[in-house]
Amino acid sequence: MSHTPQKHRVRRIVFITIGAVAGVLGLGLGAILIVGGVFVPATYLQPWNVTYYQQSTDARMQVVAHAVLAPSGHNMQPWNVVLDTADASVLYLYADPSRLTPAVDPDSRQTVVSQGAFLAYLRVAAEELGYSASFELFPDGSYDETDLKKSMSQRPVARVTLAKDPSVATEDYSSLFISDTNRAPYTAAPLTRAQTEALTALADNSAARLSILSDKQDMTTLGAFGVEGTLIETQYPAATAESAAVFHGTEQAKNEARSGFAVEGQGTTGFKKYFLQGLITAFPALNDDTAGARNAIALTDAGVHNTAAYGLISTPANTRTEQVEAGILYAQFSLHARTLGLVMQPLSQVLQEYPTMAVPYAAIHAEYAPEGQTIQMLVRVGTPTIEYPVSMRRDVTSLLRTP
Ligand SMILES: Cc1cc2nc3c(=O)[nH]c(=O)nc-3n(C[C@H](O)[C@H](O)[C@H](O)COP(=O)(O)O)c2cc1C
Repeated sequence: MSHTPQKHRVRRIVFITIGAVAGVLGLGLGAILIVGGVFVPATYLQPWNVTYYQQSTDARMQVVAHAVLAPSGHNMQPWNVVLDTADASVLYLYADPSRLTPAVDPDSRQTVVSQGAFLAYLRVAAEELGYSASFELFPDGSYDETDLKKSMSQRPVARVTLAKDPSVATEDYSSLFISDTNRAPYTAAPLTRAQTEALTALADNSAARLSILSDKQDMTTLGAFGVEGTLIETQYPAATAESAAVFHGTEQAKNEARSGFAVEGQGTTGFKKYFLQGLITAFPALNDDTAGARNAIALTDAGVHNTAAYGLISTPANTRTEQVEAGILYAQFSLHARTLGLVMQPLSQVLQEYPTMAVPYAAIHAEYAPEGQTIQMLVRVGTPTIEYPVSMRRDVTSLLRTP
């Protein structure tokens, strides 16, 4: 009996201590979530809103508002648009030379492939809105490669003409609004014959070729190329510095940049996203090159071991027009895959043209492009295990340029 007040006191002290620890943890968690931007509206996601395009009544701006959802290397969205002042049905697409990633893309090949992705998205939107979209690629001629940046700003990639056409239709419109890239593991379900045939048929009207490979031998070989490419890239300081420079770790930074990488790219969403952003803002070492390399390797490793098939897009040579054609085909492939319940992720490292990648670059071409073709895209394909978060997009008006 004499022990009872003592017991109460001990219990009270335990409760007070637990309460204090929980309070401090709660305050800490709250502070991390606030630093991580939990109360900051994500304006960088506005273009994903299905009514976003309605802010303009000009059909050209309406289709461009959809095309900004297209995938692009490093999510640079290297696109500029000029509206023809003399013809309300015409716009010009230019590559934006201020948005290049020269370390991983020294020849700007992926930047030009990304132009094709934009055009494919634009066409699907046009068809949904009742227009056909026709493309004249490089109407003023291809780039002057000796002064590429200047040439990009002077010569359009495409002259796009919209024409009212009640006969057009698309199955892929709602796929525009689903994240293009899914870096998570996929289920073990193989692609069905119908899926493979429908996807392969997309190349019928293209200058680029598409192969879908799922033999055991191809799966092993291509998976190994994916892993080797990632290992080499993570050891290339110019590439890691380039990625770090376009990584945005807070909601404020993402609202400003609206392009590049963020934690969503690793599949992080909800509270976890704000928590992670808060942590890496408070402790930047958590997101240094070593951590980045470890993440990239683990992600690729898990990816290639949980993939149903690979897709390879190649072109007979490697002209700028072919690169655009490859990008159009890639985006059609990716959009239609989503319509069929599939997703994909490019594994571009091994196709990159910097010196330390030369050996696996030559090896994959020797094996999968033996007649001197250029492999423009290597992607893993499968049935998703998770819905992947959408990533930052620029405001449509920021793409506009005067001639
Ligand atoms: C030419 C090109 C190359 C790409 N290479 C890679 C890659 O190697 N690894 C990867 O995970 N994603 C790659 N992507 C996907 C982009 O990173 C992605 O489109 C961009 O970050 C926007 O994200 P979203 O596609 O999910 O909207 C590539 C995309 C394009 C168009």
